[in-house]
Amino acid sequence: MQTSAFQSLHLNAVYLPFPISEEQLPDLLNAFKLIGLQGFNVTIPYKERIIPYLSQLSEDARRLGSVNTVKAIDGRWKGYSTDGPGFMRSLSSRKLELHQKKVLMLGAGGAAKAIAFALINQGLDRLDIKNRTREKAQSLKEKLEVFAPELRISVNPETKTEYDLLINTSAVGMDGVSLPIELEVLDRCAFVADIIYNPPSTPLLQAAQKRGIPCDNGLEMLLFQGVESFEIWTGQEAPVAVMRDSLKKSLAFTN
Ligand code: ATR
Repeated sequence: MQTSAFQSLHLNAVYLPFPISEEQLPDLLNAFKLIGLQGFNVTIPYKERIIPYLSQLSEDARRLGSVNTVKAIDGRWKGYSTDGPGFMRSLSSRKLELHQKKVLMLGAGGAAKAIAFALINQGLDRLDIKNRTREKAQSLKEKLEVFAPELRISVNPETKTEYDLLINTSAVGMDGVSLPIELEVLDRCAFVADIIYNPPSTPLLQAAQKRGIPCDNGLEMLLFQGVESFEIWTGQEAPVAVMRDSLKKSLAFTN
């Protein structure tokens, strides 16, 4: 999707994958400097390990302690995190407004953390976090409370709350058969976002569709974190439709 975006705006650039081992990271960064590379993404397991090599962090990346996008600025590297902002942008493209809304988030791993740090800036009424391992959700709650002391955050609550938004950030559903939440809870949700994009429709999304609840899979988040990266690197507005089209084609090809 990045190379398609560069081409559509006639930018002389390409996006390439570099599978490396951790010991190779310093050499790779030196090589990148040598050839004048303008920016790159990092993924697991480098999202935290890249930080000691960077001269500067964006506010989002600093709070989160995680980076997925790096840009060369005057010969130095600056790190950003576009996962949370990308997720928020995917919601606003669906015209979902979160001010004073109730959100239930399933999962408390890396993706949950990025999304939750973006959510706490939206003026929510409450954020409930449900996770198989309670301590991980509790630890995430404590990190969030440092930045949003007034927000109501509950861990594994037993409530009859009607949620405006349910977000599945857990891996449950990737197998194509498991549901991450009881259907009785789903019945009380107005919108469902599952960050899984493979399979394109998880059992959770199928159940939501069956009930007529509007929903999105993880493709839009994947798209918009890339859109945000593109805009950081180029300073130009990303061609979203071109990127969506390219992403869909490459995923269809992979499957
Ligand atoms: P990611 O970076 O994609 O968020 P992760 O950090 O490994 O990946 O987090 C995976 C999430 O899926 C966690 O919340 C995990 O729950 P635990 O904290 O209890 O491990 C959740 N998860 C994975 N498999 C699960 C399962 N079979 N049942 C319930 N939750 C599961």
